[in-house]
Amino acid sequence: MAPIYSSSSAVSTALLISVVVSFLMAASAGNFYQDFDITWGDRRAKILDNGEFLTLSLDTTSGSGFQSKNEYLFGKIDMQLKLVPGNSAGTVTAYYLSSQGPTHDEIDFEFLGNLSGDPYILHTNVFSQGKGNREQQFYLWFDPTADFHTYSILWNPQRIIFSVDGTPIREFKNSESIGVPFPKNQPMRIYSSLWNADDWATRGGLVKTDWTQAPFTASYRNFNADACIWSSGAFSCSSNTPLLSPPTHQHSQFQNKTIYFRVVTPYKY
Ligand SMILES: *[C@@H]1O[C@H](CO)[C@@H](O)[C@H](O)[C@H]1NC(C)=O
Ligand SMILES: *[C@@H]1O[C@H](CO)[C@@H](O)[C@H](O)[C@H]1NC(C)=O
Repeated sequence: MAPIYSSSSAVSTALLISVVVSFLMAASAGNFYQDFDITWGDRRAKILDNGEFLTLSLDTTSGSGFQSKNEYLFGKIDMQLKLVPGNSAGTVTAYYLSSQGPTHDEIDFEFLGNLSGDPYILHTNVFSQGKGNREQQFYLWFDPTADFHTYSILWNPQRIIFSVDGTPIREFKNSESIGVPFPKNQPMRIYSSLWNADDWATRGGLVKTDWTQAPFTASYRNFNADACIWSSGAFSCSSNTPLLSPPTHQHSQFQNKTIYFRVVTPYKY
């Protein structure tokens, strides 16, 4: 599926935020108590093992979700996820960055569940100034429910790169020179949620959630952000923040893999 760019160039109402780069020596090593707040679902969202793990679950009453305490502007953000196993049809695990308001920016990973043995779809999207419609979907080259895998967003003023286990699968370039707004002025929080979307998620809504399988559970670990954090009126960036373009080897890898894994024909694992 080719990305569809919005042709109208909305005027940014966001103030250009000046990035104050103060180098902190330590990258933020993940602890879920320290970095995240559980925002909905009551006890369906759990932080375990002194902050090393987090699980979200979904049952007939509710899904659940969490969000980062920090707001970020640029960086490389990694999270390991292990998705709902077995018959996960109808469920969606969303993991994304987003700012607030009607002209918000957003960078999305969404994992659309499936019947046992049928492939998940990794759905991606980028919103800038409130406009999305830039979906691209992928089949993964492994069973994402069997183990943890790393899903990364590299975001800097030039580009956004989505990677899976270090393999870039999608690049969204800054094309402001041809009038396409690019997310670069609004800090974003990290969000994740597990919810029921059986009206559209699996085979376009044909396969419904089998509630006899509930509760459905997705797990998280090894959060890492080499990023700029907004705090008391300024940004502080960790020393590893990739503010410039990523190394060129990532580009050649990206160009080769993206054609292979994009959803065109079903990929069986
Ligand atoms: C689920 O499996 C079917 C059959 O292989 C496939 O067509 C579909 O793309 C898969 N994923 C989703 C989320 O529907
Ligand atoms: C990508 O493909 C080109 C030619 O098709 C090849 O020369 C190059 O080594 C490949 N790069 C990677 C990282 O696989």
